[in-house]
Amino acid sequence: MAPDTRHPERLDRAVIFLGPPGSGKGTQAKVLAAKYHVPHLSTGDMLREHVGKGTALGIKAKPIMERGELVPDSLVLQMIRERIERPDCSHGFVLDGFPRTVAQAKYLGELLRIHGYKKPFVIHLVIDTSVLMRRLTGRRTCKVGGEIYNVYDRPPKVEGVCDADGGELMQRPDDREEVIAPRLEAYEKQTAPLAAYYGSRGLLHVIDAAKSVEEVGRQVLQSVHHVRGGK
Ligand code: AP5
Repeated sequence: MAPDTRHPERLDRAVIFLGPPGSGKGTQAKVLAAKYHVPHLSTGDMLREHVGKGTALGIKAKPIMERGELVPDSLVLQMIRERIERPDCSHGFVLDGFPRTVAQAKYLGELLRIHGYKKPFVIHLVIDTSVLMRRLTGRRTCKVGGEIYNVYDRPPKVEGVCDADGGELMQRPDDREEVIAPRLEAYEKQTAPLAAYYGSRGLLHVIDAAKSVEEVGRQVLQSVHHVRGGK
């Protein structure tokens, strides 16, 4: 399955969002994927779907996610591989929450190489961890369309109801204060080294994620626009 690079408005590669919990990966990945008409692949969303459906994978992942730890590669790699190999990814795709370890990054690199993709482009959302607690405890997500809100900074027009589709808004179980600390710790230990991994390969673009959603989005679009069509 060779990537189709003909459509001018399509991405021609994988764009990876890297950043700590609450940095805005999901918020920005959704917008970018919609802009380029490519899939938004969130391993967190996929795992939560498995948990919700009670699949064998979901039953194994649930207690791990509730502790704020990373789900083992034995469960995650096959899941993401199956998704990337679907035909709708052939124009490129936006990754949110994957890869999360150097081992996952190496696996992805090999998968992209096998399928003839260009090198990925990595957007590193950098932010001081002190603001993340407010972002995470305040987050609410639409049960229907996955729209992301924040009760403090980006509230819906009607409390508990999605502006876009009227769906009920829910709070993620891992957005409780006692789970946020281990999630941030897992990020620092296991995921933060990816910045050096991709940086040393010249694939990393750093964006200040403390700016407004709109300003971060503008910078994301600008950087992706700049890299499209290159090697
Ligand atoms: P996952 O779902 O990937 O969660 P995460 O990485 O912890 O990231 P979040 O979704 O919490 O934050 P985000 O950066 O997307 O922020 P958002 O845009 O929502 O993973 C969950 C769990 O699944 C993991 O802990 C692990 O167990 C497992 N897992 C997933 N992938 C895995 C993998 N590859 N390997 C192993 N395990 C894996 O924004 C947050 C809030 O901030 C929102 O309220 C939003 O409105 C607000 N906000 C966003 N941007 C701004 C801004 N610029 N200004 C003000 N507010 C903003």
